[in-house]
Amino acid sequence: MIDIENLSKSFGSRTLWSDVTFTVSRGEMLAVVGPSGSGKSTLLNCLGLLARPSAGAIRYEGKDITRCGRREIRGFRRDVLGYLFQNYALIENATVAENLKVVAKPRRFSRGEADTAIAEALERVGLGGREKEKIYHLSGGEQQRVALARLMVKQPALVLADEPTGALDDANTTMVVDILREMSEAGCAVVIATHSGYVRDRCDAVLVVEGPPSSTLRRGRRAPAGTARS
Ligand SMILES: Nc1ncnc2c1ncn2[C@@H]1O[C@H](COP(=O)(O)OP(=O)(O)OP(=O)(O)O)[C@@H](O)[C@H]1O
Ligand SMILES: [Mg+2]
Repeated sequence: MIDIENLSKSFGSRTLWSDVTFTVSRGEMLAVVGPSGSGKSTLLNCLGLLARPSAGAIRYEGKDITRCGRREIRGFRRDVLGYLFQNYALIENATVAENLKVVAKPRRFSRGEADTAIAEALERVGLGGREKEKIYHLSGGEQQRVALARLMVKQPALVLADEPTGALDDANTTMVVDILREMSEAGCAVVIATHSGYVRDRCDAVLVVEGPPSSTLRRGRRAPAGTARS
């Protein structure tokens, strides 16, 4: 579904990575790993059209999205993309439910259905009944789970998750990966930048970013549940 062809990114004379080529299909989870500063977040930002690659193409259903105009970029972000940022990107001053309603597409949900989808997603992330609470009253881990619930309500075709488990305990880490896996099984393509061996082992393929040249190590289907953490 998303094809990355010979993608390179430099800042000035410094090349982060070059000739990165890989495909993420619907139903597939790709881990992006590499040392701090190797350019994992930058790669995700290129896929999310928040940063421009220096060379190469990113094809979404065949079309090179690096050449899209502003309007198409907005449409891509609204209709295709789900981003799980390190800082959650929630509206602090709004309630939990308001943050989720923002992404409940009117075309997909009637008002009652949106409320039901929101309640179900909050239940799934262990925040059932917390709709009316303000984001700034929640803990960091709870905010992270609201961001995950928002992703479930949005149902994007492509999920970009930047260290989604960085600040979480083991139980919540497992929950986040389980939910991303469910979304991928529902037909979504998922790309996760991570330092966690556990998260990496739960993905279908691993892209190692460590300066040029980059390589994709394909593995079989996902490792069995309960793989040891590293
Ligand atoms: N806009 C920018 N201008 C110049 N340099 C940048 C810019 N954005 C990122 N960089 C540099 O690119 C390098 C890669 O950053 P990036 O955040 O992608 O790394 P990362 O692999 O995600 O690291 P971490 O594991 O710590 O999150 C860093 O050295 C960073 O300073
Ligand atoms: Mg990063």
